[in-house]
Amino acid sequence: MSTQASVFSAELSTYLDSINPPEHPLLAQLGHETAQHRKGHMTIATQQVQLLVWLARLIQARFYLEIGVFTGHSSTAMAMALPDNGHITACDINVTYTDIAQHYWRLAGVDHKISLHLQPALITLKQLLAEGHAGHYDLALIDADKPPTAHYFEYCLKLVRPGGIIAIDNVLLQGRITQEPTSTRETDSLYMMRQFNASLKQDERIQVLTLPLGDGLTLIQKK
Ligand SMILES: C[S@@+](CC[C@H](N)C(=O)[O-])C[C@H]1O[C@@H](n2cnc3c(N)ncnc32)[C@H](O)[C@@H]1O
Repeated sequence: MSTQASVFSAELSTYLDSINPPEHPLLAQLGHETAQHRKGHMTIATQQVQLLVWLARLIQARFYLEIGVFTGHSSTAMAMALPDNGHITACDINVTYTDIAQHYWRLAGVDHKISLHLQPALITLKQLLAEGHAGHYDLALIDADKPPTAHYFEYCLKLVRPGGIIAIDNVLLQGRITQEPTSTRETDSLYMMRQFNASLKQDERIQVLTLPLGDGLTLIQKK
């Protein structure tokens, strides 16, 4: 989520965009269309997508698991980057958002590489494990509802291969992570995300690095 770096100024973010390779025109078009959307702010930051694509190429990823598709920015970019025999398992619950994503998958000619699972991601993740997909994925992105983040992480850790990568978006909660909560609901979400963020450093199953990219992106490599 979030189209702009939360800790960089807008000016610096624009400068970074100017020195990085431009997005594919179709992804730029999708970005413009999503920006008009009532919930357009939920789209993943371009710099985050570019990093994920870069990592996918680095580790020669074939199998990508995405939790949180929205209008399809990250999934379309990843599908374009994966080899012809690559495949994406995409999880979301919203038909309206994912209809836009599916439209762009078709425009990009990558729809054959993507299976969309329209149900709560925890159900899909459980099914994937039951179907024997442990260790199957090279790369996973967690970018959906925040309360189950720790559960999504545990499932992804089982589903990615050793050496595979899990990326988690919005770990800085739009800068609120270090601030005092203003409501009970916010207290719960801040507490949960702080606990989760802090737990990763001691987790011996992984190597972790959190970057101030977009709304905070945590990169985890499974040992
Ligand atoms: C931040 S957006 C994802 C952004 C997306 N990765 C992109 O490329 O722009 C979050 C998405 O998570 C979905 N979502 C929310 N709760 C979910 C759940 N329990 N299971 C699966 N998807 C969920 C929402 O419908 C929404 O499309």
